[in-house]
Amino acid sequence: MKRIEWLVMAIVPAVVVILGTARAQPGQPSLSGRSGDFSAASDPRLSLDLEPAAQEILKQTMREHLQALHDIVAALAQQNYEKESAVAHEELGFPKHHQIMQREQGMVFPKKYHELAIAHHQAAEELAEAIQTKEMKRILQKMDETIGACLECHRAYKL
Ligand code: HEC
Repeated sequence: MKRIEWLVMAIVPAVVVILGTARAQPGQPSLSGRSGDFSAASDPRLSLDLEPAAQEILKQTMREHLQALHDIVAALAQQNYEKESAVAHEELGFPKHHQIMQREQGMVFPKKYHELAIAHHQAAEELAEAIQTKEMKRILQKMDETIGACLECHRAYKL
């Protein structure tokens, strides 16, 4: 083998390895400050292993949750505290939990998943109460905790 060919064969793989390592470095920090939580390469989430029909039911609930968050923020922007508190209670709190339980009959979830679900309904109930005080700092703190409870479950489970 010519000397130049040997050099190419040794250097090219070395460069590929070095570039690969550089790319594997953590990228942009996530907004939550916990970078890498949602990266596909190191996905630590457990699968719920649901049937396709059950997955559709779960996703419908989730889209309603996102709609509820939107309606809460919209009512806050209009300083419509009564409406805001009602949406937090009805659409994210325990009344919503009971509606979801009806819909999810026959579906089996891990115990930890139930606990995370209850924690998020509880956070929404506390948000509904905080809204009634009309104290923005308290409301935003409870809003942060409510959205944090969504993320807590999203970090742990996938469909
Ligand atoms: C107890 C667990 C849990 C909680 C709490 C939770 N989610 Fe989810 N959510 C999931 C799972 C599991 C998925 C499916 C994620 C996947 O497979 O990537 C999901 C998916 C979603 C989706 C995608 C829906 C679609 O049509 O694909 C949205 C939007 C969403 N969640 C919003 C929310 C919001 C907003 C909250 C809080 C108000 C929330 N979720 C709270 C478990 C949860």
